Amino acid sequence: MLIPIPDVLSPQEVREFREALDRSQWVDGKVTAGYQSARVKNNMQMPENHPVAVELGQKILHALQNNPVFVAAALPKKIFPPLFNMYQGGHSFGNHIDNSVRRIAATGEYIRTDLSMTLFLSAPEEYDGGELVVEDTYGSHSVKLPAGHAILYPSTSLHHVRPVTRGARVSSFFWMQSMIRDDAQRSMLLNLDVAIQKLGQDLPNHPSLVDLTGVYHNLLRHWAEI
Ligand code: NI
Repeated sequence: MLIPIPDVLSPQEVREFREALDRSQWVDGKVTAGYQSARVKNNMQMPENHPVAVELGQKILHALQNNPVFVAAALPKKIFPPLFNMYQGGHSFGNHIDNSVRRIAATGEYIRTDLSMTLFLSAPEEYDGGELVVEDTYGSHSVKLPAGHAILYPSTSLHHVRPVTRGARVSSFFWMQSMIRDDAQRSMLLNLDVAIQKLGQDLPNHPSLVDLTGVYHNLLRHWAEI
């Protein structure tokens, strides 16, 4: 399931991110690509240990911890430190699936990539092309969101970024290991969670709310890997 996460960063935060990134040195994006995806990857990237990338990445992680839509959708266990990339002058990233296991350089820790995330840092009108296209069982989905918004999608999905033919597309991208490894289980938990929230708004005193919330937590307890 593809899940948009609106307003991860405010317009003011996006401006601050862009000022810091525009002052920084970018390198060839092949540095974090696997053998196969390096052949189709053509963009620029901030080095993983660059102080600006580390500082902005921590701000993104802090924002996500306080974002209820993200927490409900991802049920995150471990998040890879956010990386930053830029596409311009025809840059693109051909069809690929992200590496399944990644090592966090700073800690040596490994994470299984259950979910991939792209946080848009350029407004859609700043560039042409650059859509993130994700394939799932329901077909192909083209994603281009306002600056500060993010998309969460299963890392098992084939995806690509269409060529940027005007302007620059700056974004943050990263992966996470969820407490719920299986995408179908995670989607059902999210649907149940959303239904309980709606019921709580419409009928706040309905006694079944307690039962349904109990079912949600018992399913989470049953499936969670922590
Ligand atoms: Ni990818």
